[in-house]
Amino acid sequence: MLPRTTFEFMELHGTVDGFRAALDGERCSGRTIGLVPTMGALHDGHLSLVRRAAKECDVVATTIFVNPLQFGPDEDLERYPRDLEGDRSAAEAAGSDYLFVPSEREMYPREPKAHVTVTTTEDGLEAASRPGHLDGVATVVTKLFALTGPCRAYFGEKDHEQLEVVRALVTDLSFPVEVVSCPTVRAPDGLALSSRNAYLTADERHAAPVLYRALEAGQACLESGERDPTVVSRVMSDLVGTEPSVRLVYAEARPGDVEWRLFVAAHVGVARLIDTLAVPVCAAPVDTVTAGR
Ligand code: PAJ
Repeated sequence: MLPRTTFEFMELHGTVDGFRAALDGERCSGRTIGLVPTMGALHDGHLSLVRRAAKECDVVATTIFVNPLQFGPDEDLERYPRDLEGDRSAAEAAGSDYLFVPSEREMYPREPKAHVTVTTTEDGLEAASRPGHLDGVATVVTKLFALTGPCRAYFGEKDHEQLEVVRALVTDLSFPVEVVSCPTVRAPDGLALSSRNAYLTADERHAAPVLYRALEAGQACLESGERDPTVVSRVMSDLVGTEPSVRLVYAEARPGDVEWRLFVAAHVGVARLIDTLAVPVCAAPVDTVTAGR
């Protein structure tokens, strides 16, 4: 890695051409680029991605764009939290060298005639409950990869299906991008940090950690030896049901070869929140018959 001494201040870009030229220049000087795509209202989850990119790359480019393509007609596009000034100082303090904040017109200067569709590996879940959402994510991430060029790109595990979609883009469309997945950052009470937590009233904020408690209950269920996904899913949905102000969208346990993955989504007031947890298969109890030998 080249020494990170060149940058005194973070550079703000609003145009595709300016941002692309700046990163091309960095690569020409032999520097590696870390890309952190976001929709802004940056919290410590986003900033953990920026910090990791700063450790692993010569130059960090953070992007902020509230992408209309990934919002459904009844979703929160209009009221999505926006805080450019706060984001600027937070991104810079976390080690970002470039901040790309394009307008909607800059990203989509006309009604798009080309877009990306994905067939997701996980049926159901977000793919089913937010039709078109993952296609909207795939399209904007494709644009960001195309205008950033060769880079490492940092994404959070919290949005597990999104991560799978991004990996699929890189594999299937041959982007010169290395995808880096980063662990979920949580509040001390377990609630996964999310820009949408800003919508929560004090009572709703108090109720919201039930999503994480449901994942923990699913994990405990697996660790006690349960292997029926329906039973594990029911344990999680029952736990969410203990909070009357929380409206469950889905709670699902999916077995895998190396790990089980637990998913939960719920409405808490106007906020739609998601969370996920991986439980290693070796967290299974020792089989009692084998243990007795
Ligand atoms: P956004 O929700 O702003 O999230 C930006 C990135 O931060 C994503 O990779 C997300 O998984 C990660 N992230 C969010 N909360 C996190 C947490 N608590 N801990 C760790 N990482 C977290 O995801 C999007 O934006 C958009 O769909 C985007 C990829 C930018 C495309 O528009």
